[in-house]
Amino acid sequence: MCGIIGAVAERDVVPILLEGLRRLEYRGYDSAGVAVIDDKDCIDRVRTVGKVAELDGALKQHPLAGKTGIAHTRWATHGKPSQSNAHPHICRKSVAIVHNGIIENHELLRKSQTDGGHAFTSETDTEVVVHQIYDYQQQGKGLLDAVRTTVADLEGAYALGVISNHDKARIIAARRGSPLVIGIGIGEHFIASDVAALLPVTQKFIFLEDGDIADITRDSLTIYDERGEIVERPLKISQLSADAMERGSYRHYMLKEIFEQPRAIAETLEGRLSGDTVLEQSFGPGAKDILDSVKGVHIIACGTSYHAGLVAKYWLEAIAGVPCSVEVASEFRYRHPIARRNSLVIAISQSGETADTLAALQEAKKLGFGHTMAICNVPESSMVREADLALMTRAGPEIGVASTKAFTTQLTALMLLVVVLGRRHGMAAQTEIKLVEQLRSLPRRIEEVLTLNDAIEELAEFFANKHNALFLGRGAQYPVAMEGALKLKEISYIHAEAYPAGELKHGPLALVDAEMPVIAVAPNNELLEKLKSNLQEVRARGGELIVFADAQVDMKSDSNVRVMTVAPTEDPIAPIIYTVPLQLLSYYVAVLKGTDVDQPRNLAKSVTVE
Ligand code: F6R
Repeated sequence: MCGIIGAVAERDVVPILLEGLRRLEYRGYDSAGVAVIDDKDCIDRVRTVGKVAELDGALKQHPLAGKTGIAHTRWATHGKPSQSNAHPHICRKSVAIVHNGIIENHELLRKSQTDGGHAFTSETDTEVVVHQIYDYQQQGKGLLDAVRTTVADLEGAYALGVISNHDKARIIAARRGSPLVIGIGIGEHFIASDVAALLPVTQKFIFLEDGDIADITRDSLTIYDERGEIVERPLKISQLSADAMERGSYRHYMLKEIFEQPRAIAETLEGRLSGDTVLEQSFGPGAKDILDSVKGVHIIACGTSYHAGLVAKYWLEAIAGVPCSVEVASEFRYRHPIARRNSLVIAISQSGETADTLAALQEAKKLGFGHTMAICNVPESSMVREADLALMTRAGPEIGVASTKAFTTQLTALMLLVVVLGRRHGMAAQTEIKLVEQLRSLPRRIEEVLTLNDAIEELAEFFANKHNALFLGRGAQYPVAMEGALKLKEISYIHAEAYPAGELKHGPLALVDAEMPVIAVAPNNELLEKLKSNLQEVRARGGELIVFADAQVDMKSDSNVRVMTVAPTEDPIAPIIYTVPLQLLSYYVAVLKGTDVDQPRNLAKSVTVE
């Protein structure tokens, strides 16, 4: 989290930095700032609390201009959102830095710098970095060397952009553990946390590796690896257009992204199906040997991506006959798990940069688990580069903080994996034919379920003054219920929990009364009758039920039951379909509550800190 951007050019870079910050705002939005070297070779800075729009407003009052500059949008870790904690941080009007990550040894450095005479102006971990660079400059080092020596003193994670008025047409960038990309313009260079920030100015990118330091001027770029050797990193051309990030006529990115799901799923399937089969070549070179060796799967992920993993566990064991465990990445990385050599470790992540998932993936490799795979939406991300195999979801940029199309495309990709592993573990050929048919039908079925939009918007009114909600599902619909609860809480701030419906009577039933809406997903499958009995338990206690039920199921709306009918769907793909009405429900509840749907409080899209 936190987004950084920088530019060194022949033109005023402030408009480029501001537009880049708007595009990075999903990474953090509690404060923002920009610093440039002006035409008198002074570092000028403006910082504001709140969103980039506030910074924009402040810049209208105090315009800045300069040909070298850096900017930052913050998601607070050390120190509350405030102007003094906002980046860029400056030391003695001489060096300015922006930072994404966490400096773990900041207390130690702060102490020695305070003893050395530095007066701290913020509570951040970042400020020690700028003082350290300044001190090395004072010892006679140039900017590049001062940064190089400084990062050797740091423990933790960082993506850094550094400018100094002693070297006014230069940016030094450094990366360890946090993403950083260099954009190549014509006679100008840029840095950013994400290509999205730079799409209006370039499509050419170089991705820094961990430990790299880049020395960047308008017309030169030199990258040093962690041993200090000059290295060439490949140039990549992004296929993304600047427009892919636009909201269009939708009120929020989240709604746009919900409605993009049919297309996103179609693109995820593109070139991966042929006739009745899943094309194994689409898993990349070397996939066959790896898949042949897999005896079990271990999935690591966070948040919504973790829920996708939980659905896949039901599929992998019941359909493919492959044992599967699923674990929250932040737990996996510290619990000293026992390595299983024939396990395929799968990291699921929209961004490919989530710090816990990336570290868990690295830990799995270190511990000697078998092969690794990333299921990811960002081709150039750290996880894709780290894993042996990458299965890309092709959802396109997801800007809304609440993940929607990333989840359904992850499930689609996971179903492809279920098929190729199932083949090797005795799954009937007929099952593959049926699954491929169902996968092909997904875009059409999602279009169908999206027609519930207006009815769900009306239904949302019922939630406007509720403070709690329970979500219920059984089997592979239980993680769908978990995902529904997560969506509701993160964007509407209504407390919501999910339970497997059969678990209700073991405790949570005590919570049920007229003030506790209970939302259930009820596809037509072998667990339906059991689910119905669980729902009766809720009705008998005066609970208000909302059920998304298969049209062929005999369930009718009643005094305290509202049934929303979903077109008949085959069981394996039902979790993908039933996710969509729950996304719409939380979206409309949040709109009614007037929350900031795309940028809910306290959250950020790409969680690149622990
Ligand atoms: C919820 C949400 C988060 C992310 C989680 C993992 O709507 O977006 O829970 O799913 O932070 O992010 P990725 O998938 O980028 O690793």
